[in-house]
Amino acid sequence: MVYAATDGTGASDVLLVLAAGSRLAEYVNNTVTQTQFYRSIWLDVSRRLAWLEDFAEADRAEAGRAAPERLGRGIQLENVSFRYPGSEKPVLEDISLDLPAGKVIALVGENGAGKSSLVKLLCRFYAPTAGTIRVDGTDLAALSSADWRARVSGAFQDFFRFEYPVYQSVGVGDLPRLDDPAATRTALVRAGAEDLVSGLPHGLDTQLGTAWEKGVDLSHGQWQKIALARGFVRDTPLLLVLDEPTSALDAEMEHALFERYAQAARDERQRDSGRITLLVSHRFSTIQMADLIVVLDGSRLVEYGTHEELVARRGQYHDLYSLQASSYRAGARR
Ligand SMILES: Nc1ncnc2c1ncn2[C@@H]1O[C@H](COP(=O)(O)OP(=O)(O)O)[C@@H](O)[C@H]1O
Ligand SMILES: [Mg+2]
Repeated sequence: MVYAATDGTGASDVLLVLAAGSRLAEYVNNTVTQTQFYRSIWLDVSRRLAWLEDFAEADRAEAGRAAPERLGRGIQLENVSFRYPGSEKPVLEDISLDLPAGKVIALVGENGAGKSSLVKLLCRFYAPTAGTIRVDGTDLAALSSADWRARVSGAFQDFFRFEYPVYQSVGVGDLPRLDDPAATRTALVRAGAEDLVSGLPHGLDTQLGTAWEKGVDLSHGQWQKIALARGFVRDTPLLLVLDEPTSALDAEMEHALFERYAQAARDERQRDSGRITLLVSHRFSTIQMADLIVVLDGSRLVEYGTHEELVARRGQYHDLYSLQASSYRAGARR
């Protein structure tokens, strides 16, 4: 095509227009597809937004009872079922379950079994479609949601990267203590993330995120550790949920972390508050440490008990456990 630009007949102009013409068509085509695409996203987003507004409104309207100071009995689910708003598919069906105060409970099940959905109900991000969740006998729906959420802490597989200085990025885990470096430091220790911070140029004051001129970017695993620390800022949550918060760390690190955590969970202060720890993991080295294990499969509760009980039962837990144990052994031989 280059020669056309030099033949002096104006053909190059024609070529240019032709090129623009096909580009234009492509552009128009793309725009039409994108408009349809955006329209579908927009509809989806506005539906969610409308739901969120209603949800927030209902939340504001209710006064609610105060959350208990400590848990005596624990949390009980009675025939709880759940569908996401706007969806027909049940993701939890008729779940009855006792989460005793003071225990570390592991949720096990394949992807899509409903583990995270159950966690969300307990945090009261959603309300059950049917059935009741009771906190020391009181319907969770009757508690002030602000009060309940102030007593819930969590770290999740999907987390947000707060591009703040480190101490705030952790501190948002408990807003009243956003600027409390001592609280932040304790949380980082609980998350096993002290080394991460001592390696940063300005320690706790290091600005995180590449949006800032001197901001430091972290690896995915490091960001996840910050998110984990954020879940550990509160000292006396009644419910602590750890929903695959260490998926970016290796199995050994996760094991070491939970071992330390389980140790701490048995100390007096935590026993006193009756805290329930709900943890979701695919690693049996972690799951085994829990006091009780709940197995979900395709939206239903299939097994519940201690590691030993479930292994002896030779059901689904036993099969999952044996599968992972044998693949570890095979890995070790290699
Ligand atoms: N926000 C949502 N809206 C609609 N369906 C969802 C939403 N989140 C999860 N689901 C669906 O709920 C089911 C259970 O998902 P989830 O609770 O995330 O399972 P798990 O944590 O065990 O992998 C899946 O079929 C998933 O596709
Ligand atoms: Mg999940």
